[in-house]
Amino acid sequence: MEILDLKIEYDERVYPPSEDTYLLIESINPINSQNALEIGPGSGIISLHLANHIDRVFACDINPYSLFLSKRNANINSIKNVHFFSSNIFSSIKSGALFDIIVFNPPYLPVESPPKKLIDLSYHGGIDGGDHIRAFLNDFCHYLSKYGRAYLLQSSLYPLDKTIEYLISNKFEYIIKKSLKLDFETLYVLEISFFKDDVF
Ligand SMILES: C[S@@+](CC[C@H](N)C(=O)[O-])C[C@H]1O[C@@H](n2cnc3c(N)ncnc32)[C@H](O)[C@@H]1O
Repeated sequence: MEILDLKIEYDERVYPPSEDTYLLIESINPINSQNALEIGPGSGIISLHLANHIDRVFACDINPYSLFLSKRNANINSIKNVHFFSSNIFSSIKSGALFDIIVFNPPYLPVESPPKKLIDLSYHGGIDGGDHIRAFLNDFCHYLSKYGRAYLLQSSLYPLDKTIEYLISNKFEYIIKKSLKLDFETLYVLEISFFKDDVF
């Protein structure tokens, strides 16, 4: 299937491009960025889109089928400036590595039972849906360049107030770049950066 001028193949073991994927793509401003990191690329579509605007893109997923599919989609589109690798959020990224853009569309459904299949890792956000959001918020600042921007997708299934409180109390700047009301949830994309007084 062709999306955004990209040919994208599917695999039932991998999260397919969906409304949240497109909302993120529309929200990301790649201007003045030399490199980008995507956590959880799924089919790879966001990273491949970024690779058309940014010199170097890195993307890591915990689901090996996502990495196979992303690499296949990169090949089909003759995109060579994306490096896909395995990582549990930031666990495989060496300290000192900095990115101008960091993107995460996390698993965010509140689910009590543990994931049974690899595809479940795309959805399971822990009991309150916030496990991956909190893990990302705790660590992204170690990998974001001084003037960089992090893009985090969040659903109203996990309270947006909790994320905003965290960002304010840890002195980050943020804007809600886009939102989209769906039947059972509203999706938000937060653009997060360091507080300007801390940068200058
Ligand atoms: C909601 S899907 C988003 C996929 C793609 N970015 C998109 O927007 O279409 C979440 C992705 O995060 C990956 N993921 C889940 N837990 C992860 C973790 N701990 N570390 C890295 N990736 C993870 C899943 O395998 C899945 O590919």
